Amino acid sequence: MSEPVLVLERLNKRYELEKRPLARLMGRRRPLLAVKDVSLEVPRGQITGLVGESGCGKSTLARMMLRLEEPTSGRVLLGGTDLTALHGAALRRERRRMQMVFQDAGGSLNPRKNARKLLSEALALAGDPPEALADRAVALMRQVGLDPALLGRYPHELSGGQKQRLAIARALAMQPELLVADEPVSALDVSLQAQIMRLLMELRDSLGLTMVFISHDLALVHHLCAHVAVMSAGEIVERGHPREVLRDPQHPYTRRLLAAVPRGRHAVRPSLEQAEP
Ligand SMILES: Nc1ncnc2c1ncn2[C@@H]1O[C@H](COP(=O)(O)OP(=O)(O)OP(=O)(O)O)[C@@H](O)[C@H]1O
Ligand SMILES: [Mg+2]
Repeated sequence: MSEPVLVLERLNKRYELEKRPLARLMGRRRPLLAVKDVSLEVPRGQITGLVGESGCGKSTLARMMLRLEEPTSGRVLLGGTDLTALHGAALRRERRRMQMVFQDAGGSLNPRKNARKLLSEALALAGDPPEALADRAVALMRQVGLDPALLGRYPHELSGGQKQRLAIARALAMQPELLVADEPVSALDVSLQAQIMRLLMELRDSLGLTMVFISHDLALVHHLCAHVAVMSAGEIVERGHPREVLRDPQHPYTRRLLAAVPRGRHAVRPSLEQAEP
């Protein structure tokens, strides 16, 4: 197997103060270990899944991957470069090699900029020459399955699925080596979920794009991912090929997660079945 794109080494994240107001109200003042000793390798050109229930630390881990969040301890290596040792301009440059897509695409897109502006800004930042921006923006729209006629639209003038496609296009504009998608389809209905997942698989195949796909839904991960890591209470409790993990979950937590999936759902997803490698 080739060198992994991203290597996480024994990452820990401790929050000194609980964020949830309710827990704070209940007097929970002790520090919270949101991520505990997580090591993970993300192989090139494949989709790695990260699953676990709400609050188990998935987003915290994702933010540490991009060093949007400072690890309490541990290292993040991107293509061999230790991101945890970088600061300032050097960190910003390296970080650009990774892009993140969020559940709430609308919230991550500036509402005052139309699609053309959002894309050309990202392209310019990635070093595309000014005269190429218009054509590249059109090409990006096509690549994510959006009609270039929508380039003049503002985020609020797009549907949920279109917004998510635009967020993906903007991430692609930066020519990332790694795309970290944090629950990118959780806010979408089932048919839109299938469309976006198919798009991610196409991008993996056509661009050789490496992805981390975060979800609380083992069934989705099963269709998309070559590897899966199951998280519970800040730790990775199980990892392996999704089919094996689904067929024979070793950890009690994984079994509970599976039991929460409506019967038959991980077996029947007809719209995606044919797209599976
Ligand atoms: N900035 C913060 N300060 C304090 N605690 C935080 C902070 N961010 C997250 N936490 C806590 O860390 C834990 C993990 O949160 P995180 O958002 O990473 O979970 P998650 O798995 O992404 O959940 P979800 O599925 O709901 O998105 C939670 O208990 C959360 O309340
Ligand atoms: Mg989250």
